Amino acid sequence: MSMQSSSIIIRGLGSYIPKKQLSNDDLAKIVDTSDEWIQTRTGIKTRHIASMEENPSDMGTQAAETAIKNAGLNKKDIDLLVVATMTPDLPFPSTACITQAKLGLRTIPAFDISAACSGFLYVLDTVYHLLRSGPYKNALVIGAEKMSSTLDWQDRTTCVLFGDAAGAAVLSKVDTPNVGILGSTLGADGTDPSILHMPAGGAACPASAESIEKRQHYLRMNGREVFRLAVRAMEQATRTILDQFDLKPEDIACIIPHQANVRIMQSLGKYLQVPEEKIFINLNKYGNTSAASIPVAITEAHKQGRIHPGDYVILVAFGAGLTWGATLIKWHS
Ligand code: ACO
Repeated sequence: MSMQSSSIIIRGLGSYIPKKQLSNDDLAKIVDTSDEWIQTRTGIKTRHIASMEENPSDMGTQAAETAIKNAGLNKKDIDLLVVATMTPDLPFPSTACITQAKLGLRTIPAFDISAACSGFLYVLDTVYHLLRSGPYKNALVIGAEKMSSTLDWQDRTTCVLFGDAAGAAVLSKVDTPNVGILGSTLGADGTDPSILHMPAGGAACPASAESIEKRQHYLRMNGREVFRLAVRAMEQATRTILDQFDLKPEDIACIIPHQANVRIMQSLGKYLQVPEEKIFINLNKYGNTSAASIPVAITEAHKQGRIHPGDYVILVAFGAGLTWGATLIKWHS
């Protein structure tokens, strides 16, 4: 890869987790499941559920306040806002526009990206290129999800897997060469959306008495198929981005995968031959929070001292679409 004179760094991080917890035992009172089944098959122990009044824009606003503060910046310094979400507050306007107003930002460009659980990596790559080539210096990026609003609480095969949260980062252009985000690889294969989708509520099937009766406004998933494709897509994406920078899996200090299932993350580690202690996992506390999972995980990994200046860090995700991606970061000092 060629030398760059400037870089895009993650300058500040923040996360927001709703107060209300829903444990596996709580779920066992709603559907025919058990703590033992959920923990063995997924690694999830508990998850947090947003209140009726808490929307993705509210959670994103909280995470962003922390990220801006940790970046040592003021709101007036932010000149671009992009939100990753598959659970927008409203079909339109975008959650980014609603968040811009709640944060009291200037009238900067604000838009959403929809790539499900890979959404935050799609945002990182888009914003990386906008910062490099556009007139922007500091961008606020958010992953915010209220997955609980999409779940069929009568379907034990899906409702035990997800949780609500938001994570945010401030990305800044700096004059130091070759630090921060070094590059990303993204991919998508839309040939079979039904592997993981919500059948109704969009233009193809607007809400009707029939769509509600058929329970079509909930997330539906072929879990086994997603599992199989996820491991393959994440391994390939990681290898692709490492190859681009002449790095090997052993050069990586920390892998932060999308938190969907601990068995998926362990399989990824096995195929890449990366020891388990280098793979960051916090799924046990939050479940799968879709586009929020990676920004929440980086925030925690950073806070826990798992990432040091000069470390190579890989972020890797897959999600509905299907979509996938990996981002390589050289952590700045
Ligand atoms: N409690 C108890 N039993 C259950 C539950 C539950 N919550 N859910 C399913 N079962 C039962 C099934 O009915 C099945 O019973 P049967 O054998 O009598 O038919 C049995 O458990 C086994 O079910 P499987 O689906 O084969 O279980 P599996 O080991 O594959 O685990 C799981 C299912 C956890 C969903 C797994 O396939 C998985 O994690 N897949 C990936 C999902 C994922 O990552 N999704 C997020 C994508 S990201 C995004 O964009 C949102």
